[in-house]
Amino acid sequence: MSQKTLPLGHGELLELAYQLPTPFHLYDEKAIVEQARSLKKLFSWAPGFCNYYAVKACPNPAILKLLAAEGFGADCSSLPELILSKASGISGSKIMFTSNDTPSEEFKAAYEMGAIINLDDITHIQALEDALGTVPETICFRYNPGPDRTGNAIIGNPVEAKYGVTSSQIVDCYKIMKGKGVKHFGLHTMVASNELDGSYIVETARMLFELCVRIKQEAGVTIEFIDMGGGIGIPYRLDQEPMDLAQVSKGMQALYESIIVPAGLAPLQIVFECGRVITGPYGYLVTKVLHVTEKYKQYVGVDASMANLMRPALYGSYHHITVLGKAHEEADHLYDVTGSLCENNDKFAIDRKLPKVDKGDVLVIHDTGAHGHSMGFNYNAKLRSAEYLLRRDGSVVMIRRAQTYDDYVATLRFDGALVEV
Ligand SMILES: Cc1ncc(COP(=O)(O)O)c(C=O)c1O
Repeated sequence: MSQKTLPLGHGELLELAYQLPTPFHLYDEKAIVEQARSLKKLFSWAPGFCNYYAVKACPNPAILKLLAAEGFGADCSSLPELILSKASGISGSKIMFTSNDTPSEEFKAAYEMGAIINLDDITHIQALEDALGTVPETICFRYNPGPDRTGNAIIGNPVEAKYGVTSSQIVDCYKIMKGKGVKHFGLHTMVASNELDGSYIVETARMLFELCVRIKQEAGVTIEFIDMGGGIGIPYRLDQEPMDLAQVSKGMQALYESIIVPAGLAPLQIVFECGRVITGPYGYLVTKVLHVTEKYKQYVGVDASMANLMRPALYGSYHHITVLGKAHEEADHLYDVTGSLCENNDKFAIDRKLPKVDKGDVLVIHDTGAHGHSMGFNYNAKLRSAEYLLRRDGSVVMIRRAQTYDDYVATLRFDGALVEV
């Protein structure tokens, strides 16, 4: 059973919601920093431990800078993410470029920034060389175990996944790169998403450790770091438990001692690319109730929409909802909580039991600190919301303003400014 907490009291949040235009995302700096420190501490046994925060989870320089100050790097998968990371003070080998279907100019930009390039396919060796006219000193490959792993329910079966190098290709990848003069090698995988079972992560470490041994034996290449990807889940639902990361760390350490050390492969650096577990629980979408309506069901219509948080509509994901100021009232009303898009799946909750909701109430949608604002879009010309950071000293700062109509039309060419091609 997990608890859903708020970063401020109900009264303070209500005040904020009436002071600032809603909807908005609010991130809790103290909790994010504590989480980053706790992960680092748990893995202090692991040589060179680093989490390359998945920029896609919350691409905001204020968040990236906070994490960089804790020694985190950035996991990027596009050119804008690379540029944003650099602008946030993360550069060189603190950037992992884990992309797929990659344009050559993005390989080039990553190389020029000194980022670690993580190749998604054996054919990308040639593509990279064509793009750079050379090969980098360090290279990493993303491994897809195919039928050797089941994947988890969310990320799906590895055999069906578009990502990564297969089991029969992986050794050749390293042989080829060694032949081309690459000096340092990494090995990456990502076979889980929003996973709560820690043993799954430990088994992934086992798979990579054993593969390091195989690569050494068959290609004569020493893997210097493994990248476990992201995918550590968070308890979105009240009846879920957070992953026991202390157990995961212990399990991985035992495997390190029994596989890596005897094979003479120590020290092997261990890194992750976690996003969700770092910021997810510490972000909140604050939204006002515009209408409460009764049709064949009861609806609570709020001023946020899928533009602000897509997960419920996209994946049917559960996000807990608190009605501010009504914590002690019985949750005895059944509502669909909806946004205003012309899409019937624009719902934050279906058949959710809440206290009686009234127009003007403020709802807090929990666990929006990762893959929340960042997944937003502009369908129906819905403008995306602002983001605020609750700082450790209790002050609140805007770290992204809300989109305006002018932002929305900035790329359009109106009559008189049409561009002939
Ligand atoms: C390559 C890669 N690394 C890391 C992540 C971060 O995953 P999470 O935020 O679930 O930890 C993702 C998520 O999509 C990803 O695709």
